[in-house]
Amino acid sequence: MIEVSTEAPARIKLLSTEIANQVAAGEVIERPASVLKELLENSIDAGATQIAINIQRGGIQLIQVRDNGSGIDKEDLLLALQQHATSKIRTATDLANISSLGFRGEALASIKSVSKLILQSHAANAEHAWSVQDETITPVAHPIGTTIIVRDLFYNLPARRKFLRSERTEFLHLEEVFRRIALSNFSVAFSFKHQDKLLKNLLVCQDSEAQTRRVINLCGHQVMQHALRIDVEQNGLRLWGWIGLPQAARSQEEHQYFFINNRVIRDRLINHALREVYNPLCAPGKMPFYCLYLELDPVALDVNVHPTKHEVRFRDARIVHEFITQALRSSLDVPQAPDHNYYVSARSAHVAHATPIDISYATAPELLLDYPEVLLVRRGADLILINRAMAQQALDMQGTITKNSHELLSKIQLLPQGVIWKAISPADVLNLLK
Ligand SMILES: Nc1ncnc2c1ncn2[C@@H]1O[C@H](COP(=O)(O)OP(=O)(O)OP(=O)(O)O)[C@@H](O)[C@H]1O
Ligand SMILES: [Mg+2]
Repeated sequence: MIEVSTEAPARIKLLSTEIANQVAAGEVIERPASVLKELLENSIDAGATQIAINIQRGGIQLIQVRDNGSGIDKEDLLLALQQHATSKIRTATDLANISSLGFRGEALASIKSVSKLILQSHAANAEHAWSVQDETITPVAHPIGTTIIVRDLFYNLPARRKFLRSERTEFLHLEEVFRRIALSNFSVAFSFKHQDKLLKNLLVCQDSEAQTRRVINLCGHQVMQHALRIDVEQNGLRLWGWIGLPQAARSQEEHQYFFINNRVIRDRLINHALREVYNPLCAPGKMPFYCLYLELDPVALDVNVHPTKHEVRFRDARIVHEFITQALRSSLDVPQAPDHNYYVSARSAHVAHATPIDISYATAPELLLDYPEVLLVRRGADLILINRAMAQQALDMQGTITKNSHELLSKIQLLPQGVIWKAISPADVLNLLK
């Protein structure tokens, strides 16, 4: 029996701006490192060429970012700290063509709602600078550019503050954000201080040697010793940067960076493309260092899909996937995949060209469909089609023949690397998935 509540429903009320901002901050500001990311992105968007970062006690006590960017007009200072106030987009058309790092107009409002924030700015065309604190604007001495001082993060949200880790751990997160921003902005000079100690002082990189020096400075000499510089451009797509040689692959995932139009990205499609190229070349479970930059027309990219903008959506994922795998293969000097092999993504169900499925060290595949012609197998997040006749042939060559598909599959893992599975047309694949 369904119980009927006799209580009157709670009344609906609009949240106060303060609470609404704190709710929004919950999504964007998780820890000191998220504050640093937002402040640095704002400085980059403002065209800064010099950024000075000053941190105290893992950023919990202080995060200060000073830049020499365009500054903010006095009239806009209060607006900059309000929710949904941005200078970066105006219309829906702008939203489809974003070239700035920020566009939501919520970062500063969110940070302000969970910390004690001071904003100082000297607009390029203004006589002098102004400072805002607690809605009060006063004149201040400041060179052209902006300084944002964020103190006592989450002082007003004790529950949130409790979730912060040790100062040391928070510092490591801050360092990682700094590394990513510094790696994706070679034309900006950075200084990075913690507890009054200057930890990094990076000059503007005028040429590719200087860029390499910066990568070495931030990622270490060791990974760069076994890395290649690559630069491939085709049909409006460019992939450049540094890739580690497969033999230098390590198990840790540190120092693997992929930037799309200067934005740090974690993306399934990109990871898949990298794994597809490297897996057959590296020892099981290992991936080398990489620091790669994909450049493409912003129209071909939707960046408005994730609160912290860490994910993107491509207009044509297939072309991007193919371009990346081909660019990496040609740079590493490994043969391109024959185009009669197909990979089926379990999520998008689109068909893209792929390498021969390397099954030599796959985790045990799980049989999903057992057709007379083909087997559909799940391995991790991927669906893989295997032509039975080819599998059989391969097994024959190994001297083992079996008609039982389950047994066949258990053997498939043992096959040598690089076995090429036969053509299955995209139409067949899609039919099978119906
Ligand atoms: N360092 C800075 N230099 C110049 N202007 C700045 C700086 N920081 C912020 N601003 C101005 O304040 C506005 C609000 O910044 P905020 O970070 O809140 O939003 P946003 O960058 O527009 O979008 P998002 O929320 O996606 O970051 C910006 O649009 C920009 O005009
Ligand atoms: Mg911003």
